[in-house]
Amino acid sequence: MNITFVENAPQTADVLVAGVTAEGCVAATTASLEDAAQAVLSRLAQNTRFKGAANDLIEIAAPEGLGAERLCLIGLGDPTTLDSHAWERLGGTLAAACDGTETSLTIAIAPPAGNPSALADFAMGLRLRGYRHDRFRTTPREDDAGAIKTVTVHDPDGSARDTWESNHAHIAAGVVWARDLFAEPANCLWPETFVQEATALEAFGVTLEAHGPDELRAMGAGAMLAVAQGSINEPRLAVLRWNGADDKNEAPLVFVGKGMTFDSGGLSLKPAKGMEEMKGDMAGAAAVTGAMRALAGRKARVNVVGILGLAENMPGANAYRPGDVVKTMAGWTVEVIDTDAEGRMVLADALWFAARKFKPRLMVDLATLTYAIMAGLGLIYTGMYATDDALADELVAASAASGEKLWRMPLDEDYEANLGSEIADLRQIAPDSEFADCAHAAQFLSRFADQRPWAHLDIAGNEMAYDDKPLCPKGPTGVGVRLLDALARDHETVAD
Ligand code: BES
Ligand code: MN
Ligand code: ZN
Repeated sequence: MNITFVENAPQTADVLVAGVTAEGCVAATTASLEDAAQAVLSRLAQNTRFKGAANDLIEIAAPEGLGAERLCLIGLGDPTTLDSHAWERLGGTLAAACDGTETSLTIAIAPPAGNPSALADFAMGLRLRGYRHDRFRTTPREDDAGAIKTVTVHDPDGSARDTWESNHAHIAAGVVWARDLFAEPANCLWPETFVQEATALEAFGVTLEAHGPDELRAMGAGAMLAVAQGSINEPRLAVLRWNGADDKNEAPLVFVGKGMTFDSGGLSLKPAKGMEEMKGDMAGAAAVTGAMRALAGRKARVNVVGILGLAENMPGANAYRPGDVVKTMAGWTVEVIDTDAEGRMVLADALWFAARKFKPRLMVDLATLTYAIMAGLGLIYTGMYATDDALADELVAASAASGEKLWRMPLDEDYEANLGSEIADLRQIAPDSEFADCAHAAQFLSRFADQRPWAHLDIAGNEMAYDDKPLCPKGPTGVGVRLLDALARDHETVAD
């Protein structure tokens, strides 16, 4: 979907979109459009339920007096009460209403005075809800013949364009990229090819480094290597750096992503039903990659390091086994109980590496880690575990700003009593792993944060939408990108 903002009034259009307030007034960007659309609306008035309530929509074919094939009227309710989330939702509503025949949209909605970014927010919603992934279709679906190809937004004073080009477009691109990465099946995306994909970040000024098995062995990343050893696809620990702060030596924010390009469960094999969804067990790494795209694209004035723990969990001949004892980079030994609890193994090494190497101001990891968090919070909230109240508060604020829901869950040393092993320093999972495995996993990970302000986001269940959502069609969500972007925004050097 190609979105452009233009200052000149549209003369003709395939589908022309204008707004209508709850009072029945057309809100369009020029007086002539407004008059013509108002005339069409008056003729309709008695024959439609459309009353201009927010997110109501009506499409009129061959509208009189307008140089457009179709006129689409979208209800704004009381436009002065709409915040950025509401404008995004309106854009999402429009994208959802398109049935595949609207390939080119011209947006001519007049935003209320005093809200110069409203149309950029609208475009964001349109882009995110209008997302689709059709790379693997050789024949287009009938109801998806063209989908939305071009969007032209009439923006007379150029204010929304600035917001779009300097900010929103990059965030949208980050979310879309994270979704695309998720959608790639495991025969197309494995650790090595994930790193290749991520090299696209270099064009935005991000540096990229990836450590393979030899270097991981030299670093002592025994937990990550153990998980990867059952697969013929080698692991990678990737490091993405964006140095946007005025002070290039300022301690960075570090984002760590679980990047299991496929999680079969390993020898503790998962049931066949639903296993295909585990191609998406790299959603944490995708979110970090997408966030780096957003931050570098909008030239965020902050130093950020993205760390991706990339591996494939397979039951190969050399697979790690329940009962194995492995040594983590931190030096603690772990008794493996269930090879399907691989995420905490990979993250243990990735977090320790991040903490020791970058001495971050704060660390946030994102991981599709446990079914338990889905049992607790369903598919709506991300679970947050934090060692630091200030960081937890910042994340809650970033959640409100970005619209990505999260809820703080408890870290508590008492959980550690269940992580004692007869033979090693740590047990990988609690003996009763059906009880609060999400909390035990978080407690396990907290050791490897090396006393840094750290938060862990268990995004299991949120990485994929099982139904259409206002800003996301059924499928990959790209969860985490907007949240991390909002968190980083709070740490940017204040503009002079
Ligand atoms: N990747 C899974 C968790 C998951 C579940 C992600 C659903 C996305 C959607 C994780 O590696 C896993 O298998 N966890 C196990 C741990 C258990 C064996 C202790 C779980 O949650 O059952
Ligand atoms: Mn697993
Ligand atoms: Zn997993």
